[in-house]
Amino acid sequence: MMRPLLYSLFGGAFAILAGSCSTVLPSGSGDERAFAPVREVLETNCVHCHGDNHLPEMPPITSTRSLAGLIGPGKWIIPGHPEQSRFFQVTSFPDTTWGAMPPTGHAISKSEVRVLRNWILAGAKIPEGNLPLKPRGDLPRSR
Ligand code: HEC
Repeated sequence: MMRPLLYSLFGGAFAILAGSCSTVLPSGSGDERAFAPVREVLETNCVHCHGDNHLPEMPPITSTRSLAGLIGPGKWIIPGHPEQSRFFQVTSFPDTTWGAMPPTGHAISKSEVRVLRNWILAGAKIPEGNLPLKPRGDLPRSR
């Protein structure tokens, strides 16, 4: 007679414990949250063109894994050094400069440039797993 009660008490306590643990330990989702603003800038302004059918001279921006391949010493994104990162340089060129990204229309906003800059400055961290990067909305030039 006591047993089912004990089990259910125990089960209840365990559920509460598990629940509180999951709020205390976000387990990897913290990175994903920190990356969310970067993801938004890329998905709003870059992914449309830098997708699957990109030209050889265009670094692919199709997933966090392809983005990770652009990061490292001598690559497009140099962790801790936005000003030396080609990926960042082209986004901060004035509209009229050849090679500015996006290449036509207007430049991305100052706050969007800042999001990319701060992300690279903080080490260009990518969340665990492989998140797809998908175009959001129209191309920047048609806004
Ligand atoms: C309208 C299409 C389009 C959009 C939007 C676009 N790109 Fe590009 N990107 C290109 C093309 C085409 C090239 C290759 C020719 C060139 O370098 O201009 C390129 C080249 C690049 C290069 C290599 C440049 C170099 O000088 O070697 C980088 C880095 C880059 N893009 C980053 C970005 C980033 C970051 C964004 C978003 C802020 C972005 N692009 C948005 C079309 C686009």
